[in-house]
Amino acid sequence: MTDQTKIPLPPSGPSLIERASGSFDFRAVARSPLPDLPPEPNVRPASAARQAAVEVVHETAVAQSADEPAVASAAPVQSMPAPVPFSGPRHRIDRDHLREQCLIEPESAVTGLLEEFRIVKRQLLRTAAASRAGHGPVRGERILIASAHPGEGKTFCAVNLAISIAAEKDNEVLLVDADFAKPSVLSTLGLPGGKGLMDALADPSLAVEDCVIGTDIAGLYVLPAGNATGSDTEFLASARTEQVLARLTAHAPGRIVIFDSPPVLAASPATVLANHVGQTVVIVRADMTGEAALRDAVGLLGACEDIKLLLNGTRFSTTGRRFGTYYGYKE
Ligand SMILES: Nc1ncnc2c1ncn2[C@@H]1O[C@H](COP(=O)(O)OP(=O)(O)O)[C@@H](O)[C@H]1O
Ligand SMILES: [Mg+2]
Repeated sequence: MTDQTKIPLPPSGPSLIERASGSFDFRAVARSPLPDLPPEPNVRPASAARQAAVEVVHETAVAQSADEPAVASAAPVQSMPAPVPFSGPRHRIDRDHLREQCLIEPESAVTGLLEEFRIVKRQLLRTAAASRAGHGPVRGERILIASAHPGEGKTFCAVNLAISIAAEKDNEVLLVDADFAKPSVLSTLGLPGGKGLMDALADPSLAVEDCVIGTDIAGLYVLPAGNATGSDTEFLASARTEQVLARLTAHAPGRIVIFDSPPVLAASPATVLANHVGQTVVIVRADMTGEAALRDAVGLLGACEDIKLLLNGTRFSTTGRRFGTYYGYKE
């Protein structure tokens, strides 16, 4: 592992992704009454939806666990059927393209950004492992990245998290572009277009695994959004969605699925997807996301029983420099 002692970790001050309780009363958000949404098919019991808990992503606990063995480790497989192999095309991801967008570059030196996402992923993987063991939320290996508005960093965080999780020895990650109206995962990673999740939902003869793109980043797979249908939300709410998603992780104990979603307050798919995931990370963009919008967004995602908040784009106050300057963030 690269020498991390040279990296100025931000354990207490504001950082890219920080404990955000100073900005919002998140516990109050958790206590907010949830809106009366019509029940969706394939959802866990309504009582579970009402028990949605909001938790702020925690830095320190994870920092201590940097040398922990990877979680969600593979179970013995002798008697277990093989997972569905991802059979789509395989493409190279241009590292320069990643660098230009301030994304994590696999195989590169440890950076502050990498460290920040290591901290976040550790908590998510711990919850996923607990879920697999029957202690945590149901389907904890499925993680929804959401936020109230566009431009708050959902895709940025989803891609960085996926690259970070792909580096785990015992995990592989499937990054699903679930922003069907404005998909951007493929362009962010510099990957060519192809059929995707919405196509597989709309066409029962299409196997979803044939749509999954492999990459030259070990352990990183991408499922494109596919063609928008005009009935995206209805397809997502159909019984087929759970079958398709279950197929992606069946018999694959180390597989994590990350959904990059559209803004919660601008489009309905995120709310429906919350029914299908065990963890949701709500991105809060520093100096941008209002508290009322955050409350509304969290309320609409209430079907997910484990909601974490992640503050994105803050500055380091200790040095007086913008956080972005520190990490090469272009304004
Ligand atoms: N912490 C960050 N540092 C640098 N750039 C960021 C950061 N968060 C978001 N961005 C940039 O801001 C823009 C909007 O982010 P994006 O992830 O596309 O938002 P969303 O998916 O929520 O609409 C993108 O150009 C992205 O690269
Ligand atoms: Mg996006």
